Amino acid sequence: MYVCICNAVRESEIEQVIAEGVRDVEAVYEALDVEPQCGTCRAYIREMMAEVPSALPSVTSAKANPELAA
Ligand code: FES
Repeated sequence: MYVCICNAVRESEIEQVIAEGVRDVEAVYEALDVEPQCGTCRAYIREMMAEVPSALPSVTSAKANPELAA
């Protein structure tokens, strides 16, 4: 399922980024190397992040973890 239609980003790609510790919507875009356009997907990405147990480590920016930007 596509979450971000503007950038053709699938739910599975966002799940992967979240699983790697990203907990900030802007950092999700950064990690996927896309720019938000209409912003409609922001709320859904926030919901996806809210469902992740807080015990998992977090990264607020791909710059903090360069492997996420690759
Ligand atoms: S749907 Fe993601 S920026 Fe438009």
